[in-house]
Amino acid sequence: MEKAIVIKNLRKEFGLKVAVRDISLEVEEGSIISLLGVNGAGKTTTIRMLSGLSKPTGGDAFIFGKSIRNEMNEIKNISNLSTQETAVAPNLTVLENLEFMAELYGLSAQEVRAQVDKIIQMFSFEEVKNQKAKTLSGGWQRKVSIGMALITAPKILYLDEPTLGLDVLARRELWKDIESLKGEVTIVLTTHYMEEAEHLSDCVAVMVNGEIKACGSVEELKVLTAADSLENAFVSIAQNQIAYSGNELTDTL
Ligand SMILES: Nc1ncnc2c1ncn2[C@@H]1O[C@H](COP(=O)(O)OP(=O)(O)O)[C@@H](O)[C@H]1O
Ligand SMILES: [Mg+2]
Repeated sequence: MEKAIVIKNLRKEFGLKVAVRDISLEVEEGSIISLLGVNGAGKTTTIRMLSGLSKPTGGDAFIFGKSIRNEMNEIKNISNLSTQETAVAPNLTVLENLEFMAELYGLSAQEVRAQVDKIIQMFSFEEVKNQKAKTLSGGWQRKVSIGMALITAPKILYLDEPTLGLDVLARRELWKDIESLKGEVTIVLTTHYMEEAEHLSDCVAVMVNGEIKACGSVEELKVLTAADSLENAFVSIAQNQIAYSGNELTDTL
């Protein structure tokens, strides 16, 4: 399988603050990887660099072989991002929001039609498509936001805390949508919900103070830390009791 993302010694400094500290990571095409970490760990900064919103201070990352340092224009054609801040225009209907985004990206009239129809079907927007976005629940608005990010049929999708603040049912509903993309779209998501990471991801990377302290499947992380749950594994790693990369233990203490 082709590597969708290869990160090499990626670094971001804000003045004296090192937000991302020379991280390296590989993500398989079509897989879902979750970035876990307490607030301030560097998850958003990492995603912002990968998606071209922020320039790295050091290192590089390759998205299907293209460098984020000097081939961002090509990368932007194959990746997209959905965050809490992603603008869903409140006074436009769901349909209008999707069409607007498609047109913004320069899709032809025919492509707009095809992509909008596809997203409406994928997210079951049929019943709400003529409603103004502001009349929808938080869960539906989040779906619209993700639908908008998928309008250009990206090969990579970044989801920064996609289910933050949603109720349990809305969150589960969104999981289904995200899961349905597995195999087709490579997804990097950040979350504070262990259950979500467990449910969705093929691979979990734990960030602590800008570093990736551990990376592996949920099972691998549990075995490594002798934990009975991902949450306990996470706590153990986040408290710097262990460092793990790939399939081998590394002792950094
Ligand atoms: N634009 C910025 N200017 C200065 N510091 C920043 C900026 N963005 C993020 N940081 C700092 O970088 C660190 C990592 O932040 P962030 O990537 O947002 O973490 P996370 O998403 O894991 O909560 C934090 O200490 C944060 O305060
Ligand atoms: Mg963040």
